[in-house]
Amino acid sequence: MGMGFAPNSERLTPNECGATMDYDIKDISLAEKGRLRMEWAEMAMPVLKLIRRRFEKERPLKGMRLSACLHVTTETAALMRTLVAGGAHVALCASNPLSTQDDVAAYLVKELKMPVFAIKGEDSETYYTHIREALAFMPNMTMDDGADLVSSLHFIALKKWKEIPPSVRKWARTLSESKRRALVQGLIGGTEETTTGVIRLRSMEQSGVLRFPIIAVNDAETKHFFDNRYGTGQSTIDGIIRATNRLVAGANFVVSGYGWCGKGLALRADGMGANVIVTEINPLRALEAVMDGYRVLPMSEAAPLGDIFCTVTGDVNVIRKEHFLNMKDGAIVANSGHFNVELDLGGLQKVTVSRRQVRDFVEEFRLKNRRRVYVLGEGRLINLAWSGTIGPWPRRSTRFRRRSTTRLPASSSGPWGSGSTSSPKNRRPISLPGRKGHDG
Ligand SMILES: NC(=O)c1ccc[n+]([C@@H]2O[C@H](COP(=O)([O-])OP(=O)(O)OC[C@H]3O[C@@H](n4cnc5c(N)ncnc54)[C@H](O)[C@@H]3O)[C@@H](O)[C@H]2O)c1
Repeated sequence: MGMGFAPNSERLTPNECGATMDYDIKDISLAEKGRLRMEWAEMAMPVLKLIRRRFEKERPLKGMRLSACLHVTTETAALMRTLVAGGAHVALCASNPLSTQDDVAAYLVKELKMPVFAIKGEDSETYYTHIREALAFMPNMTMDDGADLVSSLHFIALKKWKEIPPSVRKWARTLSESKRRALVQGLIGGTEETTTGVIRLRSMEQSGVLRFPIIAVNDAETKHFFDNRYGTGQSTIDGIIRATNRLVAGANFVVSGYGWCGKGLALRADGMGANVIVTEINPLRALEAVMDGYRVLPMSEAAPLGDIFCTVTGDVNVIRKEHFLNMKDGAIVANSGHFNVELDLGGLQKVTVSRRQVRDFVEEFRLKNRRRVYVLGEGRLINLAWSGTIGPWPRRSTRFRRRSTTRLPASSSGPWGSGSTSSPKNRRPISLPGRKGHDG
């Protein structure tokens, strides 16, 4: 469509685009606690600190408006400081309703004067209201973790009203044609963080609807290798242990999906003395798990054996009601994949006679066969739901180095030009399917 990049001076202001809030967080008085936490995290993020020093001198992002939909955690705060040091104006909303650290959100608002829209435990309507505010910020660039921001933006631009969550749709319908166009006109590109988001974007690219270039940060070798494997491996175990206080040693630990995250999770569970069982649909990866020394079984056979289950596949309904019904009394079930759809909670509900919250982030389902199954963190990413940390800080430092320094391909033609996704390493063109039900 080739509308070209609209400089900020010619663009509508957030107010003109219907922004209704300066920020929306839990409690501004938590800012000092957030600052201390952020400082602690930054000590283990030296690369990002170096970049910040460079950015302070060079100001490469001067005048850029950036909307970010990310986990609002200490590590993201360190990234935000770096982007602001580079001259960017940044608005931040949560990419998961449970992962926000409220004190960190307060720090960003108070000390960086950033518009932040994130409250831990926010409901679905608030989650999308916050995405709406990040869109009304009128970004030139987006940063996404799961593609909720970019998909909402595209649905508005394409007037796919049914695909747009109600709180965003109501606002989008009030925008005039010219305002809707202005919303997307200034976009020169974005970044996408996670495996699932990249899959959505690729599908959008393939169906020809992706309108601006996106850097697939997840495709960088340093991202999936270190971050998904070691970072997610550690933080997922950490989330499960904190939520349950169970001993991993001696437990039958079922890992579904032997991809980057699954390998890290299996490695860590094994290291803590668990008997690891892997379920995997890709035969090569299943073989790899066997060669790595694990038992590989279909879920139907793993279900009666497991004490602890964790899905990390990016797929839907990996653990279904027939599996839940086959589990031991007291089985613990978690997910660390991006969306909360890996566990068929609807199916579980159908075979449940009663349910109750027994600990923070632990819900007991009493099944019709009288056995109890414990689901952690509502089936959302357990490393974030419980501990609010997506991974150890050094891992995040390398991830954020990639995000703060990646440049869009020189050939990217701006908004409505060639929509493609490319990895920081090989610039491989890729691209966003429909909304998959939010989780962050
Ligand atoms: N929790 C976190 O902090 C975090 C971090 C990074 C990625 N993720 C998410 O974790 C998920 C996995 O990411 P990844 O990088 O490991 O992806 P990956 O593609 O490397 O691995 C996924 C694996 O799951 C397998 N799989 C798919 N459906 C399956 C099923 N029904 N049963 C068993 N195995 C199945 C695939 O064959 C593949 O081997 C994605 O949703 C990603 O967005 C979470």
